[in-house]
Amino acid sequence: MSGSVSDKAIIVTGAGRGIGAEMARDLARNGARVCVADINLAAAREVADAIGGSAIAAKVDVTDRPSIRSLIEETVGAFGRLDVMFNNAGISQTCPFMDVTEDDWRRIMDVNGLGVLIGTQEAARQMKAQGAGGKIVNTASIAGKQGYPLFAHYCASKFAVVALTQAAARALAPDRITVNAFAPGVVRTELWEQLDREFMALGLTAKPEQAIDEFSQSILIGRPSRPDDITGVTTFLASTGSDYVTGQTFMVDGGMVLT
Ligand SMILES: NC(=O)c1ccc[n+]([C@@H]2O[C@H](COP(=O)([O-])OP(=O)(O)OC[C@H]3O[C@@H](n4cnc5c(N)ncnc54)[C@H](O)[C@@H]3O)[C@@H](O)[C@H]2O)c1
Repeated sequence: MSGSVSDKAIIVTGAGRGIGAEMARDLARNGARVCVADINLAAAREVADAIGGSAIAAKVDVTDRPSIRSLIEETVGAFGRLDVMFNNAGISQTCPFMDVTEDDWRRIMDVNGLGVLIGTQEAARQMKAQGAGGKIVNTASIAGKQGYPLFAHYCASKFAVVALTQAAARALAPDRITVNAFAPGVVRTELWEQLDREFMALGLTAKPEQAIDEFSQSILIGRPSRPDDITGVTTFLASTGSDYVTGQTFMVDGGMVLT
């Protein structure tokens, strides 16, 4: 990598497993000090313990502003500063368009949309106080670029992530804070295992893996991704190599959505 994350103090939310855990591991391997944050503290602790070194774990509910504030306080207490915030925590649900309820909408929008708004605002407040700029990186999705009929509310929440990324980039540029996003396609994590079960429960597929296989048909690279397919881009977006990049959403989907 031509840039560096060495010694940077970085929070990754939703890092107790899946993409977030792999992002935290790669950042740490490249010399960053990482706070592994998750609503599941036991899972976050396991990831941080396995990383070792300066890595710490913290509990956070990204939908709750006081919880985000104490996460940032805890991280600054441990590392002395906050350089990069990854707003990665997210949830999904398979649901036919006509069946999405107000509760479904609010639950998904709260974590994926509001969580990114609060995480960006509170990280930026800390970075402004430090006076040396910073980086915010949000997890979008192919669902932030295309509307899919079985994921309407999830798509709306990920379009929101792209919009917040652009708006925040413009709002925070005077403080030398860059804001970018990355958009995975189909990643083999527990999230997709849940979607696979939901497809079967809805009678849309007959056997395990059928949903992920069918959804992956249009991937140009020819297979779904693993979390470690994503980290080249995520670590780059935290590094000095991306200092002249802001307001962008990087597709890391093996070529599913061509923009
Ligand atoms: N897996 C995919 O195919 C895929 C594709 C595109 C985008 N994404 C996005 O990537 C991100 C990570 O997905 P993943 O596949 O690793 O999911 P995952 O379900 O494996 O992990 C998500 C983590 O977020 C945590 N979390 C959930 N709600 C939270 C909250 N309110 N506060 C704090 N933490 C919370 C969970 O405890 C879990 O550890 C999400 O934003 C997801 O929408 C995933």
